[in-house]
Amino acid sequence: MIGMTTSAAVIVDAAAYAQAVEDAVNASAAYYTGGTSVLDDDAYDRLVRGIAEWDAEHPDQILPGSPTGKVAGGAVEGDVPHTVAMLSLDNVFSAEEFTAWTASLARRIGHDVERFSVEPKLDGLAVAARYTHGRLTRLITRGDGTAGEDVSHAIGTIEGLPGELTEPVTVEVRGEVLMTTAQFEHANEVRTTHGGQPFANPRNAAAGTLRARDRAYTVPMTFFGYGLLALPGTEEEFAGQLGELAHSDLMARAAELGVNTTAGTAVPGVTADSVEQVLARVREIAALRAELPFGIDGIVIKADLAADQRAAGSGSRAPRWAIAYKLPAVEKITRLLEVQWNVGRTGIIAPRGVLEPVEIDGSTITYATLHNPADITRRDLRLGDHVMVHRAGDVIPRVEAPVAHLRTGEEQPIVFPEVCPRCGSGIDTGEQRWRCENGRNCHLVASLSYAVGRDQLDVEGLGHTRIVQLVEAGLVADLADLFALTRDQLLGLERMGETSTDNLLAALDTARGRPLSRVLCALGVRGTGRSMSRRIARYFATMDHIRAADAAAIQRVEGIGTEKAPSIVAELAELAPLIDKLAAAGVNMTEPGATPPAPATEDAQADADTDAENAAPVGGPLAGMTVVVTGAMTGVLEKLSRNQMNELIERAGGRASSSVSKKTSLVVAGDNAGSKRAKAESLGVRLAAPDEFATLVADFLD
Ligand code: IVH
Repeated sequence: MIGMTTSAAVIVDAAAYAQAVEDAVNASAAYYTGGTSVLDDDAYDRLVRGIAEWDAEHPDQILPGSPTGKVAGGAVEGDVPHTVAMLSLDNVFSAEEFTAWTASLARRIGHDVERFSVEPKLDGLAVAARYTHGRLTRLITRGDGTAGEDVSHAIGTIEGLPGELTEPVTVEVRGEVLMTTAQFEHANEVRTTHGGQPFANPRNAAAGTLRARDRAYTVPMTFFGYGLLALPGTEEEFAGQLGELAHSDLMARAAELGVNTTAGTAVPGVTADSVEQVLARVREIAALRAELPFGIDGIVIKADLAADQRAAGSGSRAPRWAIAYKLPAVEKITRLLEVQWNVGRTGIIAPRGVLEPVEIDGSTITYATLHNPADITRRDLRLGDHVMVHRAGDVIPRVEAPVAHLRTGEEQPIVFPEVCPRCGSGIDTGEQRWRCENGRNCHLVASLSYAVGRDQLDVEGLGHTRIVQLVEAGLVADLADLFALTRDQLLGLERMGETSTDNLLAALDTARGRPLSRVLCALGVRGTGRSMSRRIARYFATMDHIRAADAAAIQRVEGIGTEKAPSIVAELAELAPLIDKLAAAGVNMTEPGATPPAPATEDAQADADTDAENAAPVGGPLAGMTVVVTGAMTGVLEKLSRNQMNELIERAGGRASSSVSKKTSLVVAGDNAGSKRAKAESLGVRLAAPDEFATLVADFLD
């Protein structure tokens, strides 16, 4: 179960208590006004827990600023009163705490909660949007909960908050304004172009943007509604309806009125009839978190029925009928100590940040990607900066942005390399990602290791050490040289006996016959991985056809758009000498079972050549299906790598994909399947166990 180690900060005496309250007040003020707190969410939660413990033990000494006593976050003097207070939420951090909360709620209302609604806790900031006869007239921040700031100037910049509802009703819509990851990237780009400091994370960006007036530019944000209530002018009948509707019905009503809700996302609000169902949904949402295009910091669980809510009532700070189940923080503030420049197998020179070690959700993070030099400039990062580091799920940790107000003035600029840090050649800085002019020859060992790897040419017995040996002995200067190695040359190497030599030569001979898709993948064409290589190979059937294709022709392969097509064509041109050399060394250049496309003489050809017809054999048990594999395979499929599973899917007529969406036809879920299984379940996509799937495709197993 998802639980956190979030413990309470230990407060030893009244002085420490006063300091803790002051820190919490400052952090809370920063949170609600869009400033950046010195405390990340985790540290804040721990502090508040410590204060709460101290308050409970010293009820006579509670300071007025204590976050446990009042409507939290009340640092902003707002000028528009809220008709009904905008409350905060109490938190739980584990299944046990949640279960205890439901029990206390049941005691309070005299029976178990009839039904719960479960929805993501969106990581933005609360606003109230007032509609008068269907027109959006006023937008107000939460402020201190009783009154908030008028931010009506932002009307028109928030997607999901329509200027006009589908019905001319007078109503207040409450919800969260946030920036999606893409909106955040865009906002920081625009802001820094205008000479501003980048925002540390999407939440700060939304807060800062919402409150900013008279800016020379506007950047879009997104709204998700989670509440609908009557205003003084609300039509009587409509007000009566609203008061009686369950939360889930209110959300459906909001969507009917044209307001954006979570319904259209991968984590729609759902109802649950039992604590177990709620917890199952909490696990599902947590598993999907890393893939969401917006930040969530927990799950909000509400008593769904209006009657249960009424019976529970509200405290001064939070309603008693709702709770936030907090998820572990995915962001922490730490320091950027150093930048390393690593050269990859295709010659890309990628910057990586070395961090002061920081724990995020149970793992210690020491490195984070800095993407590319342009990104470093855009984010105005400096050595020694405090930076916001983001890590969710299995995704590579990334530096989100510097926490600019924590600068001391001692930070140093990040120095970009002038020559390739690996081989000293010049650097091609023409694109966002810098590349060694020596290209894939710069890091030959890495590019060869990739080429002979299990999912490419699969040359058994050719590990990293052996490759280093071959390169250092001057026997191999490119991939094709491997196929020209002689028995004598190999026998001349240290630790290379007769048996190893013969085995390696036999393995290389087998590799010569691998299908075109694997040869293509081994070349390491930038922008094409295993599945794209398979699609290209199946579409064109021979290397000659691939090489003859121009950007327009290559775009007929599914998944290749206008941006990728020219770069693939350019890469293939760069690789031409190597491809010729491989062909001359007897390496196979055809895809078994595929037929080359008919020459495209007319435009109509492009339409006729549908990808499905060319990319996969017509027929087969998976014809027309998109299949995703997740978890560990068992039974006859146990030994198959993910790549081999995908090859199997395509042989059986299907299309292999790595992410689950509404378009997925089938998810093969093995042991320990996680978020993809959860997503399939929530979307109602068909699931199959490995054995069941093996039976389905039995005729196509090797
Ligand atoms: S309900 C009276 N639902 O969380 C109930 N709040 O920590 C109050 N939030 O101030 C709000 N997602 O800004 C609710 N699905 C959701 C939410 C949500 C995010 C925010 C909201 C609130 C804060 C409390």
